Amino acid sequence: MSANHPALDVHFLRNQFPVFQHPDYGDWGYFENAGGSQAPRQVAEAFQDAFTLTKVQPYYPYGPSLDMGEKIDRAIAFTTEMLNVPKDARVFLGASTTNNIYMLAEGLRPTLRAGDEIIVSNQEHEANAGAWVRLANEVDGVTLKIWEVDPGTGRLSLGSLSALLTERTKVLAFTHCSNVVGEMNDAAAIVALAHKVGARTVVDGVAYAPHLVPDLAAIGADAYCYSAYKTFAAHQGVMVVRDDWLEGLENQGHFFNGAYLEKRLNPGGPQHAEIACMNGLRQFYEDLYIHHFGEAPKGPTHNWVGAMQRMFHTHECRIAAPLMDFLRDEPRINLLGPSDMTFGKRAPTISFTVTGVPARDVTAKLADVKIGASAGHYYAWRLMEALGIQPEEGVVRLSLVSYNTDDEVARALGAIKAAL
Ligand SMILES: Cc1ncc(COP(=O)(O)O)c(C=O)c1O
Repeated sequence: MSANHPALDVHFLRNQFPVFQHPDYGDWGYFENAGGSQAPRQVAEAFQDAFTLTKVQPYYPYGPSLDMGEKIDRAIAFTTEMLNVPKDARVFLGASTTNNIYMLAEGLRPTLRAGDEIIVSNQEHEANAGAWVRLANEVDGVTLKIWEVDPGTGRLSLGSLSALLTERTKVLAFTHCSNVVGEMNDAAAIVALAHKVGARTVVDGVAYAPHLVPDLAAIGADAYCYSAYKTFAAHQGVMVVRDDWLEGLENQGHFFNGAYLEKRLNPGGPQHAEIACMNGLRQFYEDLYIHHFGEAPKGPTHNWVGAMQRMFHTHECRIAAPLMDFLRDEPRINLLGPSDMTFGKRAPTISFTVTGVPARDVTAKLADVKIGASAGHYYAWRLMEALGIQPEEGVVRLSLVSYNTDDEVARALGAIKAAL
């Protein structure tokens, strides 16, 4: 229970997810949110509605087509309001975050000049690293700089970023939250520092967005990306780009679509029924809001969805705390990232290695008690190397989210002790 909101009714929350009612799949603990979340029934219903009833090209002048267009418009409007997107930026839903960032980098390519610099942190998932590294390597005269984590803690510091930024810095790519060490970076402060030298900022919010709703007006990034399939919706990447940057990027779509800013970086066209899932997501949050607050939500969408997510995050931090305490204090375990679950500072994405026990053996023990978790490098290859971990061996990652429970955490703890 927090001072500002009631405690999450996790039983009610889980009842929204068909998987938890299923005889074969319902008793698994899914500790794999950073890989992808389960979907609530509201999202599945929105998909089914769009996919089976209005699966036609949108925006043509006949009933079903106009209806599909309306669903898309509503979904984009909800996403825009939920994220508090500034007026001078726009939302795209593309194939994935990897795809969206790749398109952004390709759009930037012809604008780069010899002497320009690109900075990439090595805390990244490869989605927000590879495209920029490639660009810097392939455009003559462009310099790549790596904003390196502290090899002991996996942490990024503003001090080391300051030493890299110059007036030649064109882009800074960094993560809002690492999908391995779980630390939430102060994105607004990092963006502000980069803007002092006129650099554009590309923020990967994929590992942040399942836990708290990003406030894009407050962060002020030039591009912000996350993946809807980790935040209870469909397998798509959400990207928000400022218009004044987008206008100067090379169109990656068909030549006759170049004038439509929202099509410039989305050449294949979006999957319409998956976009409509955002309407189901809105319904999911609304149903939860009504259950917890006894009335329909009022006021800005960012505020009331944000309130629900703060409630979720409070629950996640509480249930993850015993796990963190054990992992931190157990001498044979090397816990990565911050060792406390502090609200707003860390995602419950908890990675570790065990001396003498391969990561896969730990996940096998977890599977014995029906905890679904994974082992690997999670495409954060550069971070693994920086931390002195063999990427092929990887780490165990327990990625909790709002629908996980105390009982699942207790089962996971028992399995980890058995693996030791
Ligand atoms: C932190 C982070 N960034 C980016 C991605 C890539 O997202 P997508 O699968 O939508 O390309 C992932 C996927 O796991 C991720 O965890």
